[in-house]
Amino acid sequence: MESTPGVTVEGYKNKEQTSPQNNYLFVAAIDFGTSYSGYAWSSKNDYKNYLEGKDVEPKIYTNQPWNSGGKGFFSEKTPTCLLLDADRKLVAFGYDAENKYADLSQEGKHSDYYFFQRFKMNLHEGFQIEAIDKMLRTVFFHETFPFAHRGSTDFSFQSKEMMAVEMNGKQLPAFEVFAMSIKALVDHLMTMFQHKGNMATLKINDIKWILTVPAIWSEKSKQFMRKSAVKAGIPNSNLSIALEPECASVYCQHLSKDHLYGARDEYSMKETGQKYVVVDLGGGTADIAVHEKIEDNKLKEIHRSTGSNCGGTSVDAAFLQFMDQTFGKSVLETMKTDYPESYLDLMREFESKKRTVNCDETDNIKMSMPMAALSKLCSQIHKKSIEDVIRLSKHTEKVSVKTDKLRIKSEIFVEFFIPTIKKLISLLEHIMKNKRVAEVEDILLVGGFAECTMLQQHVRDKFPTKRVIIPFDCGLSVLKGAVIYGFDPTYIAIRIIGHTYGVDVAVRYDDSKHDLEHMFEYNDMMYSKSVFKTIIEQETEVAADTKVTREYRTIKEFQERLTIDIYVTRNPNPRYVDEDGCLLLGKLLVDIPNPTREKRIFDVDFIFGNTEMSVAAVDRESGEKFETQFEIFTDA
Ligand SMILES: Nc1ncnc2c1ncn2[C@@H]1O[C@H](COP(=O)(O)OP(=O)(O)OP(=O)(O)O)[C@@H](O)[C@H]1O
Ligand SMILES: [Mg+2]
Repeated sequence: MESTPGVTVEGYKNKEQTSPQNNYLFVAAIDFGTSYSGYAWSSKNDYKNYLEGKDVEPKIYTNQPWNSGGKGFFSEKTPTCLLLDADRKLVAFGYDAENKYADLSQEGKHSDYYFFQRFKMNLHEGFQIEAIDKMLRTVFFHETFPFAHRGSTDFSFQSKEMMAVEMNGKQLPAFEVFAMSIKALVDHLMTMFQHKGNMATLKINDIKWILTVPAIWSEKSKQFMRKSAVKAGIPNSNLSIALEPECASVYCQHLSKDHLYGARDEYSMKETGQKYVVVDLGGGTADIAVHEKIEDNKLKEIHRSTGSNCGGTSVDAAFLQFMDQTFGKSVLETMKTDYPESYLDLMREFESKKRTVNCDETDNIKMSMPMAALSKLCSQIHKKSIEDVIRLSKHTEKVSVKTDKLRIKSEIFVEFFIPTIKKLISLLEHIMKNKRVAEVEDILLVGGFAECTMLQQHVRDKFPTKRVIIPFDCGLSVLKGAVIYGFDPTYIAIRIIGHTYGVDVAVRYDDSKHDLEHMFEYNDMMYSKSVFKTIIEQETEVAADTKVTREYRTIKEFQERLTIDIYVTRNPNPRYVDEDGCLLLGKLLVDIPNPTREKRIFDVDFIFGNTEMSVAAVDRESGEKFETQFEIFTDA
């Protein structure tokens, strides 16, 4: 045992497993996407019928096409857009929000409203490990800390300051925006149930809820989503967080060969030993899992989840950059604020063209333009006609305008996709370098962006020895798989730890191990502070519910609280918690009930191998147990 001022840590105790309860009659899943969101559900009965062989594939229901308005996409997901009035009350979500905002702007009444789009990437960028580091190391973390309620353990992190920015630049707390969006989806689903005779009495807490998040997200982003969903009215105990590529993988397990386009004859994903890469290509992120089918119909992760921000919206960003280069940045910026209906039309038109362009496209791409607004802005800002503005731009050779259409040379249009596809391919190449993955033959592409034929073709060309499989309904595989995951949360039996987790301890100074910079004196003894004491190493294979138990002792009489700082790093041999690449993940606070003169001992379980890391502490003397997951807010 090592004595430390503040916290005393003792070694590793044991690893054990438990299995979660699963008694709900209905499971509903929410896929809250960067571009599109939706829900799906099924009943335990339906799932049982499938398991008993009465149905060939599980029956999973989605909302029948959302009202897409104007452009007429058929979609079982709806754009992730939220419209609030000046009092921050919900006006609409999804296509409805887009359409109402367009109507308001036509009447010139939109400027007091809040219109949010694509805000999920806030969490990816704002809460990713690297960004958290910066945030945590600023004073705000230390000033706004702690908080744990008496008798509980609490990972806390004040992140109420994170703001979401709406179309006109107004800001609201991201937490509020997420919670209201999830509530809009939940309410839509509950209203739909009310109109179905046999489900009319179903209450929110009769349902097991699954909320999907990218697998590459940090614990904080996951907890942010959990908190938002709870704020939206989903009971915490009814809610599970599921990881997007894992859901897709689970879904594909249940598809027949006919629904796995590109698979070899006689292919069966259900065969033990079958290995595959699943790439969830969404709007924001590409999120990759590598799985092996093992005994008992379970899956094992054979490479830690990996990903990057190379989703379909990067293609939109390239298009917008091209528009800026052609018409000038202020034209598009002003269109967004002064003529948002025109801007939304432009983006919908791009979305529709984006879905139809192929690699071998040779013709000009003709895009309908909001000519009235564009012409007005060109003359207002540049004092020129649209034609003259194009003529003076760097794209003059490749772009022209005729009646209400912009004609863009196909090579320019194809270029919008190339950087994103290249980024994805280099990510895949990087993963394939791992010898466990190199031998995997099948690559499953799922998510909306997987429908992009140009992307499919580039992946096929780059990996000619692999089979690229596109499952039926690939845009819905995450959502539908999340429902199956709800019925069988133990589906992924083994995961690989993505970071090394450790705690901050002070230990006896040893000049062969420690530097002078971290040395200090306490009660006439020399110690080294800020030592990284590993709880679990990255790349460790863990079964679901793996507990790593540490013993903690109080060191002062009447000590009221244990404080444990948890750090993560990708450095294989971390020495100190303040070295580069080492990040404070959270603070575990155990408020000690009835502090006493005698030393108290706590067994703290760090639970790994699930979709969220969790922690539980037991007071050894009273046997009282405090359970918690990461807490990110003090007052949410
Ligand atoms: N046929 C298609 N061709 C090209 N891109 C497509 C096609 N269909 C959908 N997309 C793109 O896929 C993206 C949406 O995919 P999806 O609905 O899986 O994303 P999401 O779930 O909202 O995002 P994320 O999972 O990153 O949070 C959008 O960028 C959309 O333009
Ligand atoms: Mg998605």
